[in-house]
Amino acid sequence: MLTVNPQRRINATEALKHPWICQRERVASVVHRQQTVDCLKKFNARRKLKGAILTTMLATRNFSSRSIVAKKGDGSHVKESTESNTTVEDDDCKEDRKVDRSATVIAREPEENGPGKCQVSLVPVIQRNDQVFNDGCARGSSSLDSEEEARKQEIVKLTEQLVEAITVGDYEAYTKLCDPHLTSFEPEALSNLVEGMEFHKFYFDNVLGKFRKAINTTILNPNVHLLGDEAACIAYVRLSQYIDRQGVPHTEQAEETRVWHRHDGRWQHIHFHRSQNGSK
Ligand code: GLY
Repeated sequence: MLTVNPQRRINATEALKHPWICQRERVASVVHRQQTVDCLKKFNARRKLKGAILTTMLATRNFSSRSIVAKKGDGSHVKESTESNTTVEDDDCKEDRKVDRSATVIAREPEENGPGKCQVSLVPVIQRNDQVFNDGCARGSSSLDSEEEARKQEIVKLTEQLVEAITVGDYEAYTKLCDPHLTSFEPEALSNLVEGMEFHKFYFDNVLGKFRKAINTTILNPNVHLLGDEAACIAYVRLSQYIDRQGVPHTEQAEETRVWHRHDGRWQHIHFHRSQNGSK
């Protein structure tokens, strides 16, 4: 009955026929006692270890989501909230049971004059089985899985920082995360491949963080592929809610794929592709 895999675990009818149950006077109290105690100890130890690993992973994520406070010259203010509605099920495994983790919301609150405050918080989203985070049950919790998930987390965090820089129009923060020869396809470039930073700088200088009273950016279902140790690719949907200067609310959706490369120990954004509202 303690078998983790539900396919191999005995069902209720079989359990009732098991000598352990139906002859409990003769069997349960006499036979297997030490073996059972040992198995229960092992089972509990595994649960505890799994819980500790998940707690550590979540603590790392939550801690880092508290830390950014950036002042910009134009008075805008970036901060991250500590809110995280993460749910962890510390129970035995089922393949389709997933830890319900976050989408990132980057929100800029309105101010009378100037672009206003920006707030980053984590909100839960329902994720499919194949997405970034899983509790390791399907393949068995191993340090390899945890390591891989931690590396994926790092890519998600970098992407959050990049999107935050775009949301608030912080070109300096953006360039720090990008390779100077960044290539991109995006709707603004009309299907042309753009190389370098100048094209993007135009929007930072003239548009981003300027004409919208409040912005709320949500990164939905980030999905990371690790490409060896030095590269990774992330895909997600970005939702931007904003209030225009006339007080009218709008929502924009973009689908983004971003490629990261680690060079001399530092992750750099080297390519992205964005389509918007189903367009190319
Ligand atoms: N247009 C800048 C970016 O999406 O990275």
